[in-house]
Amino acid sequence: MKHRDLFVTDDGQWQVCQPPREWDLLRTPYRFHRFLTEVEDVLERAIDETDCLPQLWLLVRRLITNSYWIQTQYVDPNPETGNGVIMLYDEIGYPLTVQITTSLPGTVSSVHNHGNWGIIAVLKGEENNTLWKRIHDPRFPNRVEPIADVTLLPGDIISFTPGAIHRVTALGEEPTVTFSLYGETHHSKRFEFDPVTHTAKNF
Ligand SMILES: [Fe+2]
Repeated sequence: MKHRDLFVTDDGQWQVCQPPREWDLLRTPYRFHRFLTEVEDVLERAIDETDCLPQLWLLVRRLITNSYWIQTQYVDPNPETGNGVIMLYDEIGYPLTVQITTSLPGTVSSVHNHGNWGIIAVLKGEENNTLWKRIHDPRFPNRVEPIADVTLLPGDIISFTPGAIHRVTALGEEPTVTFSLYGETHHSKRFEFDPVTHTAKNF
């Protein structure tokens, strides 16, 4: 089955993007340090980083297509939280978050945005993303409602604008493994939403 590149905007709308040409993906070897360098090169030229998402997700697809090392990163999820995380690059002052996350089947995240752009590639297993959007309600400025639902399979990549809101549920029988790349974390712009009380808090 063809892998999909999905793009989600702040209002919860999603679209499937034109897949890259296969010959644009092939690099042998395509090492992780080269990926990091090319990501940095794209962002250094950027006026608005979110506008660079198509270029960045091409690099992510190139990485997951060619890098056996990335494809085989794994940590057992913590049975209490349901998740495990490997920070792949963690230099002090390095603004991006680059990680592998593993999730036990049935693990459900909060309803959250990331406050900056993000690209997530499913390496193994399945995950469901509900996509939410803010609803104008003068009484509850942080009211959100689910408006769409997408299930991602291995090889699928989903990209988010900074305000895009989702909730992720790991599906299937085996832990879900994802590779994620996020722009610089701005805690003041990153929220977890409570869809019952219509409140939000930074995280
Ligand atoms: Fe997320």
